[in-house]
Amino acid sequence: MTVNEIRAKYLEFFKARGHAIIPSAPLVPQNDPTTLFTGSGMQPLITYLLGEPHPEGARLTDSQKSFRAEDIDEVGDNRHTTFFEMLGNWSLGDYFKQEQLPWFFEFLTDVIGLDPSNLYVTAFIGDERNGVPRDTEAAELWQNLFARKGVEAKIVPIGSESDGYRLGMQGGRIFYYDAKKNWWSRAGVPENMPAGEPGGPDSEVFYDFGTPHDPRFGAECHPNCDCGRFLEIGNSVFMQYLKQKDGTFALLPKQNVDFGGGLERIAAAAQGNADVFAIDVFADAIALLQQFSDKEYADGRYRKSFRIVADHMRAATFMLGDGVRPSNTERGYVLRRLIRRASQHAQKLGIAAEKREDSMLVRSSIIMLEKYKQHYAELEGEDAYERVTAEIWKEEVQFAHTLEKGMKEFEKIAATGHIEADEVYTLFTTYGFPFEMTLELAQERGLDVDQIGFQKLMEKHRELSRAGSEQKFKGGLADTSERTTRLHTAHHLLLKALQLVLGPAVKQRGSNITQERLRIDFSYGAKLTQEQLARVEEIVNEKMDEELPVVRSTLPKEGAEQLGAEHEFGAKYPDIVSVYSVGPKGATAEVPRFTEAFSIEFCGGPHVSNTAELKGPKGEAVFKIKKEEAVAAGIRRIKAVLE
Ligand code: ALA
Repeated sequence: MTVNEIRAKYLEFFKARGHAIIPSAPLVPQNDPTTLFTGSGMQPLITYLLGEPHPEGARLTDSQKSFRAEDIDEVGDNRHTTFFEMLGNWSLGDYFKQEQLPWFFEFLTDVIGLDPSNLYVTAFIGDERNGVPRDTEAAELWQNLFARKGVEAKIVPIGSESDGYRLGMQGGRIFYYDAKKNWWSRAGVPENMPAGEPGGPDSEVFYDFGTPHDPRFGAECHPNCDCGRFLEIGNSVFMQYLKQKDGTFALLPKQNVDFGGGLERIAAAAQGNADVFAIDVFADAIALLQQFSDKEYADGRYRKSFRIVADHMRAATFMLGDGVRPSNTERGYVLRRLIRRASQHAQKLGIAAEKREDSMLVRSSIIMLEKYKQHYAELEGEDAYERVTAEIWKEEVQFAHTLEKGMKEFEKIAATGHIEADEVYTLFTTYGFPFEMTLELAQERGLDVDQIGFQKLMEKHRELSRAGSEQKFKGGLADTSERTTRLHTAHHLLLKALQLVLGPAVKQRGSNITQERLRIDFSYGAKLTQEQLARVEEIVNEKMDEELPVVRSTLPKEGAEQLGAEHEFGAKYPDIVSVYSVGPKGATAEVPRFTEAFSIEFCGGPHVSNTAELKGPKGEAVFKIKKEEAVAAGIRRIKAVLE
């Protein structure tokens, strides 16, 4: 079964059970400053899990594009990928465990055809300190489901991962683990959750590939063992708790289900091959690379390089599809790293290109465009093809120049017969010359490298780039706190004010809001004058003084478009959308009076209910533009605050 077939079957399965199919949110999160990339299905839906009604109802299903930068260095084994699709189904206070577990089991066994005797499951062992009981309900549900398929399923408590390596399988099929393994929140275990964060116990399903246990990971094997025998293919989170200010847990007003399943992993299980890179989307790219390199994927010396090129080019294709461009900061830097690392490994396979049509990176990305365009419209058409292939080739060429310059520098250092750690480091930071490359060249020439000093610098670099790419989850719900919410409403006023001052052609091209400031990127060709900036500020402050109501409405996408509601360039929206309008005075959710509104935007919220809430403590005007600059050709950026 191909990835496209499995995705379609999953969405159909849940549609038949009352779920609305919603489109994937972009890889670039909107209004969520806590992370660079969308890394799970629930991230774009967090406001709904906290209780805001979703315009499409209480049962949703989708396949969310996800990217985890922290896994870049892991790619190369048989299961890690940076980009993946997370299949999701959600109950927003609707159904719960009794429906969720049987449905997922039915999907895996009856729709995908997995042998139930290859499935193993886990549930939460309980946490007395936080008053969360052992999830016996989930364990018993699983026991009945297996029994109906004639599979015996003994329940075994394990606790911690390290106990798992000591205790082993114990003839069990259903295992209780602690919060490190069977509790889910964006911040991890209950102790790490900030006040206001939702989370709950979860129940995971593992597929047993039947490979022998590798004792390097621990004495005994168990479902959460990392030796490669078991692969987690889906996780049902019972999102029912909300962390309180005093550190205790209260039940959320609505008990949600947040299910996430790795599409690629389910495809691997469906073909009974533990190598995720054997599924169709990767296998086709790898077949092409084999053909042009004359190297075999089966050859252990090259397998890692094949996997890296296939994974990184898929991720790069999706990023480019969502508007990311290679650069030296934030997302652009991650994309640059992906393309350059893929290029390095293509070279290891001995494939170099003189022109775009021959580039293996470009050809791999074309395979991805072909595979995915039927489901992801942003990868469809001439525009996408041109943008993706041109950017990849441009970066590949630039990297080749970098390597050339670095090579010259390397030769100078190599002439001394010894390479110091800081020289390796400078080669990287100043010349963009990859670490691995320096080490390999040094080895080839029998040069002496200060390995220990180098490892230390490398560690430092890793920490720096991790901190940069992950942007650690910060305390508090940065995206729904009062400060952020006020800035979010100010953001809407600002966009409209910019259009009034600079002309209606101004469109939003990106946004980012933290508790401290808002940031908007918008299309405009010139630096703003002092007068223009002052006028924009004035308009935003006037709208606060006018004390305009902020109204949320849900309406069909076409209707919202006809009203001229603003939406971000390139973003995909479901058939029914949520729209926020500001003004006129007297507008209400029942009678929104869109045609008289000051601003209307496609938006999931949250917002204040009246612009008066944006004013300072004494009612003073507080909106201030702090910075105006160019970010790209034709794109300006403004940072502003409510002082
Ligand atoms: N939110 C859960 C996860 O990402 C489903 O694993």
